[in-house]
Amino acid sequence: MRAKRLTESVEAAELLSAGQLVAIPTETVYGLAANGLDDHAVARIFEAKKRPFFDPLILHIGSTEQAKSLCQDWPDEAEKLSRAFWPGPLTLVLPKSDRVPNIVSSDLPTVGIRMPQHALTLELLNLLEFPLAAPSANPFGYVSPTTAEHVLDQLGESIEAVLDGGPCQVGIESTIVKWDETGLHLLRLGAITQEQIEAVVGPITQSVSVSQKVQAPGQLEQHYSPHCGITLFEPGASAPNPNDQQAVVYFQKLPEGMPQHGYYLSQYGELSEAAASVFSVLRNLDKWGYAHAYIEWAPKHGLGLAINDRLKRAAAKR
Ligand code: TXA
Ligand code: MG
Repeated sequence: MRAKRLTESVEAAELLSAGQLVAIPTETVYGLAANGLDDHAVARIFEAKKRPFFDPLILHIGSTEQAKSLCQDWPDEAEKLSRAFWPGPLTLVLPKSDRVPNIVSSDLPTVGIRMPQHALTLELLNLLEFPLAAPSANPFGYVSPTTAEHVLDQLGESIEAVLDGGPCQVGIESTIVKWDETGLHLLRLGAITQEQIEAVVGPITQSVSVSQKVQAPGQLEQHYSPHCGITLFEPGASAPNPNDQQAVVYFQKLPEGMPQHGYYLSQYGELSEAAASVFSVLRNLDKWGYAHAYIEWAPKHGLGLAINDRLKRAAAKR
């Protein structure tokens, strides 16, 4: 294993300042970080993840001032949303300034920016003179990592270090919003719900939950996928009997107890608990050698929509 496990933000800051790759904890998922203003360092992220260059990266920042320095214009919506949700799981897509390398934005005129809510990573960001470009720290297309072990299991040979900040509290990626002359667009469902955003800036014109049109280049139909096959079933519908080839994953722990090869996303049927566990459960299906899994959809409201988005993509045919 090549990657070091770090616990101090200063150690991570040294490596990152030298152009190296360090996985960082956030409240959503672990990110694979590099100096976001250094083309070479950013190119190594794409290489390590085997990520296509057409899929742009998010810049992580430690202050709103820093965010403003990376975009051309700071509209009223950005002000309101950043005040309401930063630090936190919301990414704003804004017209980028010339300081942002084209490799970060995949040649788009815009850049995604967010301030993560994780004490260690905020400390790190405030030690650095540059933003951190960081996609989720998984090989492209695979399930996102929510612990330092998940990162080391898959990228341990291709990165310098992981800053271990414990398991991610939220467990699914940030919500992504963008706006233009036609209005406000929700590009990715995530930890902040559409209702929460609308309460701050008014109605969303177009949401990925309604329109299936691909807006973010990375919003590929198949994504977040374990190697095992997945079939989704409606809440409360009966699932086939599980066996050592075929697992069943319920949304909530069954009151009568779980059968062998039966799993659940949440003990008490809470959406936030399910979000925090969904990626670990998907990974475990592979680790435990299942060829197939039947997974129950989460309730279809609030955070459940973002969980279902991940399940739907995990189940999409390769
Ligand atoms: O919670 C998160 O957002 C995590 C943590 C590490 O911060 N990051 C994350 O990054 O999920 P990634 O690269 O796995 O997903 C970022 C998504 C991609 O689908 C990408 O296409 C989209 O954001 N994106 C980035 N910049 C964009 C832009 N300028 N316009 C539209 N979509 C953009
Ligand atoms: Mg990702």
